[in-house]
Amino acid sequence: MIDVVKLMHLVAAIFWMGGMAFMLLALRPAAVALLEPPERLMLMGAVWKRFFLIVMVSIVALFATGTHLYTAAFRAIKAATGQGAVPLGWNVMLVLGLLMMAIFGHIYFAGYAKFKRAMAVQEWPLAGKAAAQIHTLMVTNFVLGWLAIAAVRLVR
Ligand code: HEM
Repeated sequence: MIDVVKLMHLVAAIFWMGGMAFMLLALRPAAVALLEPPERLMLMGAVWKRFFLIVMVSIVALFATGTHLYTAAFRAIKAATGQGAVPLGWNVMLVLGLLMMAIFGHIYFAGYAKFKRAMAVQEWPLAGKAAAQIHTLMVTNFVLGWLAIAAVRLVR
């Protein structure tokens, strides 16, 4: 059972991290090279609409499976040793994971909402500004995601 939970945690992480990798390293640079602002913004908006839904499902899955893995191991360690000391890297993942989720909340409810409002009235410069904010926050989450994964693998 715990192996299935771990697998689901990995699948959700791969969808979120893989999606950001594709977006930041392939899609966005190609859109910037080939398209002018109105078309580029429309493309990014259509992509985000779909990708952000995937991220929301991933977040629910990561939180549910992550907290399950954490508490199950915490209880097992406590039962075996009398102390509930999980590896430091797990606590780093917990904190960075929650931070990533909060940053995504900001992307969605601040940046993306602003972007959609600007697009609805064809305010391209304003939409471009909101898109740049979304990009910066997504880069931040991408870096935090790798730090969390490195911590859970390398920090004991
Ligand atoms: C509330 C947030 C989170 C919690 C509580 C959490 C908890 C955990 C725990 C306890 C493990 C260790 C499982 C084990 O080795 O038995 C783990 C592994 C992992 N987590 Fe998370 N996690 C969270 C968020 C995230 C996020 C946001 C990502 C993606 C960026 C992520 C990616 C991974 C990966 C790839 C592994 C597997 C590492 C390995 O193969 O050893 N987690 N997580």
